[in-house]
Amino acid sequence: MSTLIDLRRIPAHVAIIMDGNGRWAQHRGALRPTGHREGSQTVRQIVRASRRLGLRALTLYAFSEQNWQRPSFEVDALMELLREFLVTEREEILENGIRLTSIGRTERLPSRVLEVLRPLEAESANNTGMTLCLALSYGGREELADTMRALAAQVARGELAPSSVDESSIDHAMPSMAQGTVDLLIRTGGEQRISNFLLWNAAYAELVFSERLWPEFEVEDLYDAIAEYQGRDRRFGKVSALSPDALAPDPTPSELATAVHA
Ligand code: IPE
Ligand code: IPE
Ligand code: MG
Repeated sequence: MSTLIDLRRIPAHVAIIMDGNGRWAQHRGALRPTGHREGSQTVRQIVRASRRLGLRALTLYAFSEQNWQRPSFEVDALMELLREFLVTEREEILENGIRLTSIGRTERLPSRVLEVLRPLEAESANNTGMTLCLALSYGGREELADTMRALAAQVARGELAPSSVDESSIDHAMPSMAQGTVDLLIRTGGEQRISNFLLWNAAYAELVFSERLWPEFEVEDLYDAIAEYQGRDRRFGKVSALSPDALAPDPTPSELATAVHA
């Protein structure tokens, strides 16, 4: 099946919780790392499709702060796949003007990952195509805590007045906000939860949950998610722009009284 999407209304920033690799492997009687390997192929396809669609940013939840608690052979396999991805995709990323960034407590990553991640971030820093942001050793609560600590330190140094701490100063201090707010947040694998992803940033993201396990998620499924997003009415707490109430002039006091008491 092919989905029609409106290319004039592509979400600027898509974020994906890439879930279901382990189950994909287990269903085949294989070990979980086999699912992660297959999942890394999906990453390649989805990054390519996102760039072709003209997304401004794609944030991928690749490894959570809580994922360190998995068995060490699985963590090692994930780190190896991450390193491989950065090595094999380097050329394509640079050729296509993609800017690669990361969010999370990346200092916890092993040096064999950091030694390919940091140079690629630096080399691609001035690229103006899509930003590919990898959430690595990332947690939404951890990001909030780190941001609050940084702001508190600024206050302690006398650089920031407590009364100036507001949504905007938090936005500026929060790494995941550098890519702008998320428009569409997709989670694959059938679970309907946030699992500590972009807690601040995704306040008004449209959520789309896919039953597909990440290794079987295809470009068509991304198009489906975008089509679903395009059918949503984003109100941001206001009255729908499509509602007749939003288009009509303000009611007179007597019309309002009738409406309230009706
Ligand atoms: C997502 O797949 C990948 C990571 C969390 C790194 P999972 O490994 O969580 O797969 P399931 O949810 O156990 O199937
Ligand atoms: C979320 O998936 C993290 C990533 C996809 C990297 P998890 O599999 O870790 O989340 P839970 O355990 O289902 O909440
Ligand atoms: Mg999972």
